Amino acid sequence: MEIKKVGVIGCGLMGAGIAQVSAVAGYQVVACEVEQRFLDKGMANITGSLAKLVEKGKLSDEDRTATLSRLKGSTDLNDLADCNLIIEAIIENKKIKQETYIKLDQMCPPDTILASNTSSLSITELMAALSPSRQQRFFGLHFFNPVPLMKLLEAVRTILSDEGAYASVCEFGKKIGKAVVQTRDSSGFIVNRLLVPYLLDAIRGFEEGIGSIEDIDKGMMLGCGYPMGPFTLLDFVGLDTTYYISEIMFEEFREKRFASPALLKRMVLAGMLGRKSGRGFYDYSDPKNPKPMKLN
Ligand code: 3HC
Repeated sequence: MEIKKVGVIGCGLMGAGIAQVSAVAGYQVVACEVEQRFLDKGMANITGSLAKLVEKGKLSDEDRTATLSRLKGSTDLNDLADCNLIIEAIIENKKIKQETYIKLDQMCPPDTILASNTSSLSITELMAALSPSRQQRFFGLHFFNPVPLMKLLEAVRTILSDEGAYASVCEFGKKIGKAVVQTRDSSGFIVNRLLVPYLLDAIRGFEEGIGSIEDIDKGMMLGCGYPMGPFTLLDFVGLDTTYYISEIMFEEFREKRFASPALLKRMVLAGMLGRKSGRGFYDYSDPKNPKPMKLN
């Protein structure tokens, strides 16, 4: 099945990025949000990101204009009815996601493919709310932040997946310029299965005094060639997001390596969520020059 029109539900950081890369690649895109103010914010992020790409010579001015002409915003889910692929990137709440899928299932033609950008919820559990035929056309499409810059896309299939529909979403991933890795529904898929225990171990190491925040970050950047050290990455991803993912993974695997360290939980409780709240393992009062937090 050829995908021509893509719907994206949720225009936050991830949804806006997904809508952007789809439109850049030539797809007609409808980006849907619950309220106009969220849609405006998402669209402004897309415009800003495209401007940066033009500034850096990665996108021509004509391509930017063409991209924006392919991109429509909406606050009405019904506007997604004629999309061939609909990617959901809303809040990580099973109930709210399933309510959205049920509406989509009822209003879309039988061959429409649905996908979720969830980073940790079970794809099988999410699709359980759908009709049996739609369950075969429901996948995980897990993007990475920042979506326009990160090359990877995880394409997640389930035990019920239709092979033709799975091939179509993998093809879509390639067309939007991503390297697609195929994986099956297991908590954390490939990347978070390895990344989350690593990030949690960095916190445990810090708690045990193996090094300072800055030195642990420096160690992994300069010793292993990682673009960001674990604490910079934790702040970038969000401490609440990491905590939430680790809780879900711990519930699935019951292994200590997925359990959240006490410090992470306390920082989340204290509202230290990383970059987005201005404080995490670093203090972002001066965003260009973050300083490690003093944690007693
Ligand atoms: N669109 C366009 N430009 C963007 C952008 C966007 N959305 N986001 C950032 N940029 C720009 C920056 O503003 C910066 O511009 P500037 O030079 O004018 O300031 C430029 O891109 C990046 O320039 P850098 O020289 O800083 O580029 P880097 O080579 O350092 O790359 C990075 C930045 C790609 C973010 C890199 O640091 C990196 O790869 N970090 C790791 C990110 C990562 O691991 N992400 C995955 C997180 S895990 C996840 O998402 C899964 C989830 O389930 C938890």
